[in-house]
Amino acid sequence: MYNIEYYYSLIKSAFSKLSIPSSPESLYEPLRYSLSMNGKRIRPLLCLISCDLCNGDVNKAIPAALSLELFHNFTLIHDDIMDNANLRRGYPTVYKKWGINSGILSGDVMFAISYFEISKSVPELVNQLVSILTQTAIQVCEGQQYDLDFENKQHISTEEYLEMIRLKTAALIAASLKMGAIIANADEILQNKFYSFGEKIGLAFQIQDDLLDAYGDANKFGKTIGNDITTNKKTYLYVKAYEDADEEQKNKLIYLYSGKEINSVSKINEVLTIFNKLDILNKTKLKLNNLYEEAFSILEIMEISNTAKVFLKDFVSQLINREA
Ligand code: IPE
Ligand code: IPE
Ligand code: MG
Ligand code: MG
Ligand code: MG
Repeated sequence: MYNIEYYYSLIKSAFSKLSIPSSPESLYEPLRYSLSMNGKRIRPLLCLISCDLCNGDVNKAIPAALSLELFHNFTLIHDDIMDNANLRRGYPTVYKKWGINSGILSGDVMFAISYFEISKSVPELVNQLVSILTQTAIQVCEGQQYDLDFENKQHISTEEYLEMIRLKTAALIAASLKMGAIIANADEILQNKFYSFGEKIGLAFQIQDDLLDAYGDANKFGKTIGNDITTNKKTYLYVKAYEDADEEQKNKLIYLYSGKEINSVSKINEVLTIFNKLDILNKTKLKLNNLYEEAFSILEIMEISNTAKVFLKDFVSQLINREA
């Protein structure tokens, strides 16, 4: 009970038993490649954690956990095409290695396999779990579309930004926690508190990803530092900088993010100079702390044991301090 290494080993063993056909090789090789990389497995872990904390049988949560990670990896393969990303988890992205068509199709098959896996959940819960996965998939698509639309907009309000990341990132993290609670037969109030807690954690998780994209350590992050700047992403850092900038800095930001061909290295440096002048790193950390505080205040009113709360808080603290 309450042991991250144990949950991790369950997920690992479930993945090793996942049978992936060998042909067509060009369809399944990218999928195997994606799953063999060192992903953090946060979503399946959260699913097993919430199940365990609600006194459920974690073995019953394995199909959902697998499904969540498969779904997540599918979104990453397609996301890397949309974001023009070269690196993921320290290695070339699927589409860089095998081309766009491979990225589209191996992502699609992964999406299908994620549904196949969740359908192996305990029969009385399958409908409910599939319905949550489906609602979440729709939200992720909506969020990803806002993310792309925002590339071509100068001004995004904090509210618009938060809604975009709630959809593209927080929804899946929240759903992971809720599914675990459902599988443990927790009451609906508790299920929904897990969801709300997950949403706060998920928003923080994406803002931290935005922060690492600009200020992270390239060797640890595993993705190309500055890619969000290169692709005109309206990250929390940009939104905050735009809000706090004076007229001159605002015009500079608008110019740099105008999509005109500007040398990528100098663009990144110029944007970082503005971010630094405006103390965006610390302002972003402040926002992160606020979100974690909000998450912890939801945790306080959850009907789970104190030991369970401490355990969940510890796990989230590790997420707070992550560098990848
Ligand atoms: C990356 O997710 C995409 C975001 C939502 C920021 P993770 O940071 O969980 O990616 P892996 O699976 O550990 O590589
Ligand atoms: C992606 O956000 C969230 C998804 C739904 C895949 P990002 O585009 O910031 O994720 P990374 O940085 O590529 O992992
Ligand atoms: Mg993206
Ligand atoms: Mg991306
Ligand atoms: Mg990112």
